[in-house]
Amino acid sequence: MRRAMAEAEVGDDVYGEDPTITALEERVAHLFGHEAALFVPSGTMGNQIGMRLVCEPGQEVLADADAHVVTYEMGAAAAIFGISTRTVVSQGGRLDAEQLIAQVRPKTDWHLTATAAIAVENTHNRGGGIVQPLDELQKLWDWSRPAGVAVHLDGARLFNAAVATGKDLATYGRLADTASVCLSKGLGAPVGSVLVASAERIAQARLWRKRLGGGMRQAGVLAAAGMYALDQHYDRLAEDHEHARLLADRLGLDPSAVETNIVVVDGVNAPMVAEAAKAQGVLVGQVGATRLRLVTHLDVDRAGVDRAVEVLGPLIAR
Ligand SMILES: Cc1ncc(COP(=O)(O)O)c(C=O)c1O
Repeated sequence: MRRAMAEAEVGDDVYGEDPTITALEERVAHLFGHEAALFVPSGTMGNQIGMRLVCEPGQEVLADADAHVVTYEMGAAAAIFGISTRTVVSQGGRLDAEQLIAQVRPKTDWHLTATAAIAVENTHNRGGGIVQPLDELQKLWDWSRPAGVAVHLDGARLFNAAVATGKDLATYGRLADTASVCLSKGLGAPVGSVLVASAERIAQARLWRKRLGGGMRQAGVLAAAGMYALDQHYDRLAEDHEHARLLADRLGLDPSAVETNIVVVDGVNAPMVAEAAKAQGVLVGQVGATRLRLVTHLDVDRAGVDRAVEVLGPLIAR
């Protein structure tokens, strides 16, 4: 990947002159079944611009209460774009189309904050990497067309969802008006996400990216990492999923609850376990006072799983 970055052909992307970025955008747009794409520095920027494309200031985006767009993006929709967000508590992040649809507020009532868009996260981070059911996604999409409500997909880990289900990326991409996907998660690029949408929307997105300071110059070196990641690291996500199931199993957790590369450990003293594990070289995430998140990725091989089990096993034993 470093070599591909060093050898990348570059130009000034603010002028649309970086051939490697242009090639990455065209490739990702095609993969997701959309007309166009925009390379952005982060998933957060991809999500926020994506939502702004389909929601005007003073309107709302409806999302799951644990969605990244409302939990971990620092209120950006409100702070930057004047977008209101409303949340619905789901069953562990699992999409229930009917439940969301029932909460939609019409644009025609002058008392109400109109629901312009619904945001869906796939896979769901706080939900422990679960894959959203395709029939629910399809139901939401079919309802949203005549209703005039847009769908934004936070597909930071959509590559994991596609590998886990064997569906192609466009199967998911086509069920969203705007989608943000990360090259920097399981795919292992150091930086970068891609926002996909119609050509008209992506032209607008380019303006928003520049306004937010996300217009980059000779950033083809980063796009080259993304290209390499797509070529070399996509199929191997299956290995991360296998490692996550193995990790769960060997820690005495239910491996069937693991759908992709995230293992959730509940009912522990999370800060204590995290600190003790870190002292032994195993890094885990704290999701709450009693919940940990273990993530497998391309830097965790089979020996790494063994080591994690060795360290975490005694710490989480009941
Ligand atoms: C589901 C989800 N969406 C979006 C993001 C944001 O990505 P970034 O950290 O590149 O802003 C993350 C990051 O962890 C995420 O888990």
